[in-house]
Amino acid sequence: MIQFRSAAKFDKPFLVVFMEKSQWKKKDWPYIKSAPVHRLLEDLRNSGHFTADAAEIFPLATVRQAIILVGVGEKKDLTPTSLRKIVRGVFLSSYLKSAAAIEVVPFEQKDSVVQGIIDGYLIGTYVWEKYRTVGKAVNGIKNREIHLVCLQKKLYEEQSAICNGVNFARDLINDNADEVTSMRIEKTILDSLKGQQDVKVEILNQKELKQQGLNLHLAVNQGSDKEPKLIIVKYRGAGKKDAYTALIGKGMTFDTGGLNLKPTGSIENMRLDMSGAAAVVGTLKNILALKPKRNIIFVCALAENVIGSRAYKPGDVFKSLNGKTVEIGNTDAEGRLVLADAISYIVKKYQPKQIIDIATLTGACLIALGYDYSGLVSNDDVLARKLLQAANTTDDRAWRLPSYPEISEYIKSEIADIRNTGLPKGAAGALTAAEFLRQFVEDTKWAHLDIAGSSFCDGKGRFYYGHGATGAGVRLLTEFLRNQ
Ligand code: BES
Ligand code: MN
Ligand code: ZN
Repeated sequence: MIQFRSAAKFDKPFLVVFMEKSQWKKKDWPYIKSAPVHRLLEDLRNSGHFTADAAEIFPLATVRQAIILVGVGEKKDLTPTSLRKIVRGVFLSSYLKSAAAIEVVPFEQKDSVVQGIIDGYLIGTYVWEKYRTVGKAVNGIKNREIHLVCLQKKLYEEQSAICNGVNFARDLINDNADEVTSMRIEKTILDSLKGQQDVKVEILNQKELKQQGLNLHLAVNQGSDKEPKLIIVKYRGAGKKDAYTALIGKGMTFDTGGLNLKPTGSIENMRLDMSGAAAVVGTLKNILALKPKRNIIFVCALAENVIGSRAYKPGDVFKSLNGKTVEIGNTDAEGRLVLADAISYIVKKYQPKQIIDIATLTGACLIALGYDYSGLVSNDDVLARKLLQAANTTDDRAWRLPSYPEISEYIKSEIADIRNTGLPKGAAGALTAAEFLRQFVEDTKWAHLDIAGSSFCDGKGRFYYGHGATGAGVRLLTEFLRNQ
């Protein structure tokens, strides 16, 4: 929990002071209004034992307080990521191991700095430990009181709400696939909507999916004993005249690859394959907290891609909702199938002004961009620019990849209208997958975020993310929806 205070009180057993290098040189820290603390800093400054380099940590103490001084280096060298990483580092450091109440003083009150500190703490110290019985984070980093000195209450409230949305998505992704089923995601969404005024829900289960003809979605789920679901939440923050923006998330609660079974080494983390849907749910949470004046449709396309005698087969052809027939070149290219039908359904029924889909769609995107950028493909330059802008301000990074007319050649089929696979060896696999989706959006402005690399950290994590889900897309989408 972070709590807000508008001025430093120096009343907690622990004080964390962030210090910028030129400020330190100039003894420019007017916000340190406690005389003993000021004197300590001055002495230290004169000693030259601390230089406020990035991530430099120096512990001090008055009779009443432990003071952890944290350098952030020079402003010009500080990036959104490095700031968050420094913040995470200090809160996970042994200095604060048993600190239950901490006052935190930023080096500056600029929006980006305050947001960075809140992200660095709430996103940076997130840990998934539902299934740990030993070695849990000491003194429940979670139960800590953080008193953040911040001159803008609204900014602080909004940013903490946004981080909660991010961590909500991470919890959904990190948990077992057999816990976070389509049923459970449905319940989670319905719980989030309790008491909300401006929302309506529509849910298509197996029966409705069949009636409506979402045959690609059904095909993917054929081998599963869990129900496929298309969950649609309409949020009306603006008047009736305003067209909807639709967010559509891939929610493959587990992806074995189907009969084109994934090998060892590729299958272990495939509970992450509902990260797109989780990002949509996290964003929905944020929108319900922030209540922007926009009309938005949140869509989760939920299925499970597993093997068994009922599983759909390579070489089969299915008719999609919009009438195009699709050859299954590979049962592991399942995400584009459920998304294609979801896109068609939303386009047909709601005529949104723009669609953004978000999906752990291709290993190829991970190979192209690595883990630090989500891949962005769009048929509209303005929409793409706005999304990249939102990615930059939130440090939820994205990088644009091309879409061009000729790429449609690569997903042509000999036996059907199109095929769900592209070039041999997966060449340009992120682009052919996006092209497949593009062919279902018709004239709608559309953008696609491939979060296959960015949604999850294996090993010990990277930057300011620990092991597991990162919540990629939640901050980006929330920012985009508020500002567009
Ligand atoms: N869910 C995977 C993509 C993925 C890979 C996400 C690694 C996260 C990490 C997707 O359904 C998939 O299997 N894609 C295939 C497509 C191929 C068969 C055309 C891939 O990328 O290999
Ligand atoms: Mn797959
Ligand atoms: Zn998948």
